[in-house]
Amino acid sequence: MQVLGIDIGGTGIKGAPVDVATGQLVTDRKKILTPHPATPDAVTAVVKELAGQFDWTGPIGATFPGVVTDGTVRTAANVDKSWIDHDAADSFGKAIGAEVTVVNDADAAGIAEMTFGAGKDERGTALMLTFGTGVGSALFTGGILVPNTEFGHIEIRGKDAEKRASEHAKETHEWGWKDWTQRVEEYMQRMEALLAPDLIIVGGGISKESEKWVPRIKGVRARIVPAVMHNDAGIAGAAMAVTGSATAK
Ligand code: BGC
Repeated sequence: MQVLGIDIGGTGIKGAPVDVATGQLVTDRKKILTPHPATPDAVTAVVKELAGQFDWTGPIGATFPGVVTDGTVRTAANVDKSWIDHDAADSFGKAIGAEVTVVNDADAAGIAEMTFGAGKDERGTALMLTFGTGVGSALFTGGILVPNTEFGHIEIRGKDAEKRASEHAKETHEWGWKDWTQRVEEYMQRMEALLAPDLIIVGGGISKESEKWVPRIKGVRARIVPAVMHNDAGIAGAAMAVTGSATAK
């Protein structure tokens, strides 16, 4: 079965048809820049445009960078605040004229990685962390997702953790690998103290350069592995959420 997966991010809105049985993108993905301000109306127009570019009439799954319950956005840490309490599934669905399932972006990436990627054989507790504009989290045990965890927002040294550990923070503060990795390590140690994961999967664009920073992390017991699906994980996971693969195999 094919589902159109759409990954809504701070810089781009990307999509491709996905074979949900394999997690593979069926065609090349297409990307449209995220409008600014990224209001519900502006983003809905782009999501509609993207579905149109694929002439898509079938089921659609989309990610959103905030808590999403039953299609409604509940938090908007890094996006326009007018999203809060907005029914994204309803507005995307009405605009496109199809059923659209909406899930948290890190949960989607986690679903894809746990089913087909870096966590596929993990039956214990696995924590996916995505490092981008913010820090996203997805928690699994026995392959089952606890949706909408927001572990990027625990407090460390009086600050929201993602303000110290995200890729965006690294860029803003111009931290080198050493300085940023120290902050990520402290963050992971806190997560480990709270959740005792067996496996930590690191995702987001910066996971492509994992060899520059993951080996520096010595004080965490859990195995730390980079995501293998990189930019495709959000698209694949969004599609998989439609068919109920929210429980990873
Ligand atoms: C949001 C999360 C999201 C993460 C990554 C955080 O600021 O609160 O919901 O998963 O950023 O986009």
